Amino acid sequence: MRNFCKDRYLSRDWMERERTRLWARTWLVAGLSSDVAATGAYITFDIGSESIIIARGSDGVLRAMHNACTHRGTRLLTEVCGRLSRIVCPYHAWAFGLDGSLIGVPGAERFSNGVPKAQLGLRAVEVEEALGMVFVRLAPCGPTLSEFLAPVANLIAPYRLETMTVTDDQSVTHRCNWKAIIDNFAELYHVPFIHPIHRRLFECATAPIELFAHGHTAVYVPGATTDSGFPQPDRPTDVLAMQLQAVGLDPEQFVGRVGAIRPAIQQAKRAIAAQQGLNYAGFSDAQLSDIWQFNLFPNVILSITPESAWLMTSRPDAEDPGRSHFDMVTLVRFHGSESDAAAALRTSGDDAAEVGTHFRLNGPKPADYTRPKRDCFSHEAIIAGEKTMTVTIDEDISLLGRVQAGMASSGFERVWLLDEECRVQHFHDALDACLEG
Ligand SMILES: [Fe+2]
Repeated sequence: MRNFCKDRYLSRDWMERERTRLWARTWLVAGLSSDVAATGAYITFDIGSESIIIARGSDGVLRAMHNACTHRGTRLLTEVCGRLSRIVCPYHAWAFGLDGSLIGVPGAERFSNGVPKAQLGLRAVEVEEALGMVFVRLAPCGPTLSEFLAPVANLIAPYRLETMTVTDDQSVTHRCNWKAIIDNFAELYHVPFIHPIHRRLFECATAPIELFAHGHTAVYVPGATTDSGFPQPDRPTDVLAMQLQAVGLDPEQFVGRVGAIRPAIQQAKRAIAAQQGLNYAGFSDAQLSDIWQFNLFPNVILSITPESAWLMTSRPDAEDPGRSHFDMVTLVRFHGSESDAAAALRTSGDDAAEVGTHFRLNGPKPADYTRPKRDCFSHEAIIAGEKTMTVTIDEDISLLGRVQAGMASSGFERVWLLDEECRVQHFHDALDACLEG
């Protein structure tokens, strides 16, 4: 089909169908297992007009429930994550256990109808953990979570997301439909035009892609190289020089042989990993230099290397199809104890963010580490330079408001995709199947 109508980005009718047929029926990533590992730890997850609490009870069981007091409907928790022993409504102080049960009602004797506590617990939602992530499903129907993830689970599992640490948590409110963001991360066609740095460190022109059942897709982007869509430079680029130095190699040794950098970095990282006792046996050479990006249907992008990951989520606004929320959590694998060798191998300071987040072997977790709170801001703050989500993401965010604005034009009716954008098409085909099913 390679084209589809613009209505899906603009109309409230589409938005409503997505609410009842997509968001209510599909497994959704609600957060990270590491954020609910401890007893009493909770996360909240907002999707459109719904809000869900996921909490680990004193019995060790993880449960999900609607974030709405059964007295008058008040949203109970507003923090993205935290720890507590019970949930108390800020309005009239109704209290709920972490299993959702109603345990306290001030002035209960003044309800002449009584307070049937068994009926007034928080409504439960299906929840499961997999691949270091917490998944919820508002209405149980369709495949089990393991069936849903089966096509990609074996590819993601070796990265062990559950053992990585959150180092940044950001959320931007955006003037575009949630799907415009997913589309953006489903093609590399735009990369040479709005991300000029990529030609200095990634091979985007021929990056292999893969389409999976249930609407998931992947792209495997070769790193530690330059883009074959441009002439190969004689000297390592600035970014490649930093990557070489980060693994103890001399950039001068690669003058005139830039094509040899990628295998050299792969070998160097494998040797360093062995020295540091990191188990990289499950990773191919390519995985040591490349970024593997998975788009998990419907709204999650996981961009991952053995040392770090970005978990990105595009969520619809509660009311406006032209607005959405884009969350980006940065994860890092801290390892071992501080040593001169490990410290020397880390990149540091304000080196290109691309290198810092996606290409380094990290030392131990800082002794004063605390899980960062989510920083929420508008896309205008990125355009104004007041906030950044890395150079690349800032470039995407800055552009996407223009996509939504142009789609509203009477001079535009349908998107028209090229073959490389088959990941975009695959996502929309899966979406259509959900909305028609
Ligand atoms: Fe982009």
